[in-house]
Amino acid sequence: MIYLDNAATSFPKAPGVGEATAAFIANDAANPGRAGHRMAVAAEQALDALRLKLTRLFNGASHERMVFTLNTTDALNIAIKGVVGAQPAGVVPHVVTTVLEHNSVSRPLQALADQGAITLTRVDCDDAGFVAPADIGAALTDATVLVAMTHASNVTGTIQDAAAVGTLCRDRDVLFLLDAAQTAGVVTVDIEAMKIDLLAFPGHKSLLGPTGTGALYVGERCPGPGDAAAAGRFAPFREGGTGGDSSTPTQPALFPYYLEGGTPNTVGLAGLAAGVDHVLATPLAEVLAHEQALCARLIDALSGDDRFRVLGTSDPARRVGTVSFTVAGFDAPDVGSILDDSFEIAVRPGLHCSPYAHQRFGTFPDGAVRVSPGAFSTANEIDQLVDALRAIVE
Ligand SMILES: Cc1ncc(COP(=O)(O)O)c(C=O)c1O
Repeated sequence: MIYLDNAATSFPKAPGVGEATAAFIANDAANPGRAGHRMAVAAEQALDALRLKLTRLFNGASHERMVFTLNTTDALNIAIKGVVGAQPAGVVPHVVTTVLEHNSVSRPLQALADQGAITLTRVDCDDAGFVAPADIGAALTDATVLVAMTHASNVTGTIQDAAAVGTLCRDRDVLFLLDAAQTAGVVTVDIEAMKIDLLAFPGHKSLLGPTGTGALYVGERCPGPGDAAAAGRFAPFREGGTGGDSSTPTQPALFPYYLEGGTPNTVGLAGLAAGVDHVLATPLAEVLAHEQALCARLIDALSGDDRFRVLGTSDPARRVGTVSFTVAGFDAPDVGSILDDSFEIAVRPGLHCSPYAHQRFGTFPDGAVRVSPGAFSTANEIDQLVDALRAIVE
């Protein structure tokens, strides 16, 4: 099988991920707990070591604010509902987002808007797939509490100017939530430099770890109840046991446990630690350049043929490793099925959980075919895909 669906989840995982997962479940799989027996303490220490590594990778200030989640969706829900739920009663806060968002951002926001809990502005992108930071700035009002946006679209792959948006949010005292589902582990994400208040990312995409892993970094401007500056700005989304202090009637006021109720996915996180070690061993720019070169190869092959229409910019240097296109005379799901059945090539047809992006590019409701090479994909695999696409249209 040729696997070109890394935007959904990476495959294969990094060398050592399977082994680390198996070793953890065979030998170490106790429930982490700071006050428990030595196996529980060791499990807690393993989690802390990973928190530290991830905090360094993304240049956060404090590893205690690296909260483990089940995936990006979980992290985004904790972030969005945490910010909105903590607003003073009687005030309807305003949130700004974009047309490029995945449903894991747009659905919780739309549901909150439908309930009357927020007002929502969805900022447009240009034809190349870029949101102008100035348009985000123009959408901010005195009631805006949050800007929630993707770092790179999972449809067009276009990388957004997160630093510019972070700066204008900071200047207006608005919290900035960045969805790094498509960039964490392949594009530099710098919490300090980009002025990110909330960073949501998966462990299972470019960090090359198992599914069921992800995290939310919660910056200092989102205090929990134990912080002196807490003005009700961030409420826990999920409450429960934390493996530590059981005496408090409500969630202990200590990060990361404040937002981490319940037994974490220690087995998956053991695998993620191996994935992150692999990612740290190679400069991100090298992996990104590899994926961009594969996308350039595909875009070059398709753009000479007017039966294919590539969505978004034709400049691969402004994309992560994702290319979506339509095929004249074919529904996207049919192209996906033929590639799977007849050529053993895995791509992702459809709307990619991003209906507003497809509306923007005129591909709603049929969608497009998405090809997303990963760190281990090869030029030969792209050439086989191009041959298969040509055979289909001919
Ligand atoms: C841009 C974007 N945001 C969020 C998500 C949701 O990620 P997860 O599957 O880790 O919940 C995805 C998944 O593909 C995505 O592409």
